[in-house]
Amino acid sequence: MLRRLHHEQPESFAFTEANQAWAEAQLTKYPEGRQASAVIPLLWRAQEQEGWVSKPAIEHIADMLDMAYIRVLEVTSFYFMFQMKPVGSVAHIQVCGTLSCMICGAEDLIKVCQDKIASKAHALSADGKFSWEEVECLGSCSNAPMVQIGKDYYEDLTTETFAAILDDLAAGKVPTPGPQNGRYAAEPLSGLTSLKDHEAGKHKLNASAQLADDIGDTIKRIDGTEVPLLTPWQGGAASSAKVPAETPRPKSAVQQAEAKADDLTKIKGVGPKAAEAIAEAGITSFAQIAGWSDEDVAWADENIKGAKGKASRDDWRAQAKALSEG
Ligand code: FES
Repeated sequence: MLRRLHHEQPESFAFTEANQAWAEAQLTKYPEGRQASAVIPLLWRAQEQEGWVSKPAIEHIADMLDMAYIRVLEVTSFYFMFQMKPVGSVAHIQVCGTLSCMICGAEDLIKVCQDKIASKAHALSADGKFSWEEVECLGSCSNAPMVQIGKDYYEDLTTETFAAILDDLAAGKVPTPGPQNGRYAAEPLSGLTSLKDHEAGKHKLNASAQLADDIGDTIKRIDGTEVPLLTPWQGGAASSAKVPAETPRPKSAVQQAEAKADDLTKIKGVGPKAAEAIAEAGITSFAQIAGWSDEDVAWADENIKGAKGKASRDDWRAQAKALSEG
């Protein structure tokens, strides 16, 4: 497939204020003169914000990184993960067409896309809301066939459930990601024989689907307001000059700054590095973690380096409560 600049381009590109601060903070990860190393994260952020990578976006990023425009265009056109033409304003559907999904019905899902969106991949639907493409294995083969929409996976699909998801999206609803056949994650279709904890009703959905469901807007474009901007490699919270003054932090970090320090590595899932990252965010005691809101747990899931998703998966809050109560 030819990958070149789209014939119609917007006049200009600018990151949102928060995304610009995020992008500038990325540059500080690299030694002076090596800022070009940030080209892929910045292109990805531009795509997360706009849905695709335009010529003005390429030029903006090249200017930020002191790179020739052609070098950034080369990177963009090399990697198929970058969309080089406008995608649907509501959703771009990526249908896995590799072996497991193909055997389990990917071709039928593609027919749904052709019927409901456009006969050809990468073309916009008549109302401009949707586009689709076939992609290589997305690593969810046990839940074939599946599609990725935005950040999320919709798995164990049938033509009916997939069509219903597209209808919901068209109606402005936000469908719940994850397996669509009642499976929790990738356990055997015949049911679990071990590790049955979640059946006790603790979590309705698996961790990633639950997080997406809690956020409640799985297809939102990323404008930088979703998670706090942290630059731990600079020794703590964001210190880029342009970081917004009001960087959101777990409330308990602020409320209990005076609390005595506990050994956070006693919490399962918190290693020394994670404990350090938690402390950098101003959280040093079991009592603080025990008082976390769901929002704080989601923050920790997303931001504690080396422990992504573990705050909810290992239920740090309950562990911290038990530890704080001795
Ligand atoms: S084959 Fe479809 S996710 Fe792997």
